[in-house]
Amino acid sequence: MKTAILKSDSASLRRAADLLLSGEVVAIPTETVYGLAALGLNPQAVKKVFTAKGRPPTDPLILHLTSPDLRQAIQAGILKENPPPAAFDLASVFWPGPLTLILPRGPQVPPEVTSGLDTVAVRYPAHPVSQQLLDLVGRPLAAPSANRFGRISPTDAQAVLQELEGKIPLILDGGECPTGVESTVLSLLPPEPTILRPGKITSEDIARVMGRPPGQRSENRAKNHPMPAPGMLESHYAPVTPLYLSQEPLSHRQSDLLFIHYRTPPGVLTSNQLVLSPDGNSATAAKNLYRVLRQADAAHGKAILIEPIPDSNLALALRDRIQRASTGTASWNGSIWKLRRGSKT
Ligand code: TXA
Ligand code: MG
Repeated sequence: MKTAILKSDSASLRRAADLLLSGEVVAIPTETVYGLAALGLNPQAVKKVFTAKGRPPTDPLILHLTSPDLRQAIQAGILKENPPPAAFDLASVFWPGPLTLILPRGPQVPPEVTSGLDTVAVRYPAHPVSQQLLDLVGRPLAAPSANRFGRISPTDAQAVLQELEGKIPLILDGGECPTGVESTVLSLLPPEPTILRPGKITSEDIARVMGRPPGQRSENRAKNHPMPAPGMLESHYAPVTPLYLSQEPLSHRQSDLLFIHYRTPPGVLTSNQLVLSPDGNSATAAKNLYRVLRQADAAHGKAILIEPIPDSNLALALRDRIQRASTGTASWNGSIWKLRRGSKT
């Protein structure tokens, strides 16, 4: 199959909508990362998403709703009647935006989307291209990140092509994703609201709306969520070149290694030095993270070293992705970088 990349204008949006309505998959920009979209209530279309990504059918997908109004999703049978009241508050504050809510599943959602769970993940994205497409299609779109399973999420059209060339008919090019890391996933199931995947919308943001902070995934993961989210898999978002978390600033260099600095270090940068956030802002670091990891990977060095991520409202999300992408830790022993495998907690 030939994969086309089309700049998102009204003609290409129509083409994408027609492909989707005929049961095909299309890669689309969202404010977080590119998604691989398909008609979310059509089991055959949904299966194509799993096939193109090489994703195991046990990992459920997010449904992108056609409206930020939760009541419409209930009327359409996507969500069960009477969801937890906090869902309405959260949706009205954070949608459109990068918050995914896990709620009891309505009767119209096929088990292929939810991997047989009686819950469903929903969000209404903030990107104008995804919104226009949802309007044109008029039905919810299932869309996981548009990468091969376990690999780095794509944040521009070329990165999607690198991941899925020949496997999908169309990539809608909406430029670079402004947020750069996937949505915060918040379960609203009993016994208590729990963040399953950290993102731009933080625990503090959610606490301001709910009146109390949500639990963190690690506290009650196995108990409440027998089917872990893929974002919870230890190895995820990973480059092919092994990535090591440095315990210290990367002030020493070695020619066979790639160095990812948080901020621009003093002096002239060499070709094996990359920077996440030239302006030191955490939003810039998030926006650049996956592109920089891809760039580092493309250099085919022996290993990639990344500097510690300083505290900020995005630090949890950044550290979570980097930890899952990593193979181990690195430290400078006075003459060379010592690489130790196995940093997973
Ligand atoms: O920002 C995003 O969320 C992007 C864009 C494209 O919207 N999508 C995305 O999808 O990251 P994906 O499939 O890569 O991640 C979805 C996450 C996974 O961790 C999945 O396990 C979790 O949501 N999830 C989906 N349904 C779930 C459910 N019913 N219960 C628990 N976790 C669920
Ligand atoms: Mg993903």
